Amino acid sequence: MSFVAALRVSTRRVAFNATPRVRANPVRSAFRKYSTTPPPPEAKSSNTALFVGVGVAALTGAGYYVYASSSDSAREASTALKSAAQAGKAVTKLVPTKDDYQKVYNKIASILEDDSDYDDGSYAPVLLRLAWHSSGTYDKDTKTGGSNYATMRFEPEALHGANNGLNIARNIMEKVKAEFDWISYGDLWTLAGVCAIQEMAGPKIPWRAGRIDGFAKDVTPDGRLPDATQGADHLRNIFYRMGFNDQEIVALSGAHALGRCHTDRSGFEGPWTFSPITFTNDYFTLLFNEKWVWRKWSGPKQLADKKTGTLMMLPTDYVLTQDKSFKKFAKAYADSQDVFFKDFSAAFSKLLELGVPESQWVSSEPWTMKTMDEQESK
Ligand code: HEM
Repeated sequence: MSFVAALRVSTRRVAFNATPRVRANPVRSAFRKYSTTPPPPEAKSSNTALFVGVGVAALTGAGYYVYASSSDSAREASTALKSAAQAGKAVTKLVPTKDDYQKVYNKIASILEDDSDYDDGSYAPVLLRLAWHSSGTYDKDTKTGGSNYATMRFEPEALHGANNGLNIARNIMEKVKAEFDWISYGDLWTLAGVCAIQEMAGPKIPWRAGRIDGFAKDVTPDGRLPDATQGADHLRNIFYRMGFNDQEIVALSGAHALGRCHTDRSGFEGPWTFSPITFTNDYFTLLFNEKWVWRKWSGPKQLADKKTGTLMMLPTDYVLTQDKSFKKFAKAYADSQDVFFKDFSAAFSKLLELGVPESQWVSSEPWTMKTMDEQESK
């Protein structure tokens, strides 16, 4: 980790509302336009570069020609315009490369801390929750739901109780979509989840592009996401349906290192850790090292740490220390952040790919996107 990154992490761990760093990160707008339709399998990025080169050259040439020959016949000018339009069409068919997705990643990273008054100073947690809720609707038996169609854009899924507050995340993503309109919503939202984890000092998340936008008819029924008031059986029902096992359920739950609950969204209140915008294994260490008591309040049943009363755990978090099988993994993650990071990365990457047919992926191997720190220290 670079010195700057280390400094940032340590600053974040001190207080909830540590002043967020404003990134000087000018991200240039991508001029090219792409289709959100998955590319043909034979398309190679090297060809893409070539087509782009030819397209841009043709456009530039045509533009110059029209300008320079303004006194010539209208017929010549119209021919030049036609070839420009054709070149434009060729450009439209191009396949985005890993570099193009890196530009989208960079744009998301650049706006994470746009509003220092928002929660703990970063949109990362709510973006992570969007990525998870858009993927976690998957049902392995009927092969419905998952991240493929980004169906949370439609009612009634946007209005499912579990998705309260995610309009904030979807609206932020519109800023990115406006600049990179070729990306599908499913790719955009899942890439935002990857960005949220990596920029908050978490592990690298292997990620693939290729999701397509679906329709309102693809919306799945309400009730596919977990209910925080329930116990171990419920967690297993929900996550086994997606194809996860006990170890993956526990690893994924560790995402609650980030963010907080909001009374106006879920009814619950407060953060799980003292560093809600840094990805750590603190969620697990706190689960075991603190004494948790039921909070006395008029809201839904939740736990508070006895020492400070400022942290919270949901019933579904606490059950990870009560159920024998869950507890074994939770303890292992409390004992080692490295083990947690490794398992979280694998499980989260799998979550983001739920519901996407293999044939749709742009690349056979997942990509690892670079963090802003890695790019700055070059
Ligand atoms: C295990 C079952 C889970 C339950 C019952 C659950 C429940 C909840 C609830 C009730 C909230 C509060 C929402 C609000 O009031 O804003 C929340 C927030 C959050 N959840 Fe989960 N969750 C679960 C699993 C996950 C998973 C698997 C992830 C990601 C991999 C995740 C990531 C988050 C994040 C980052 C937040 C904070 C959002 C923010 O700060 O705006 N959760 N979750």
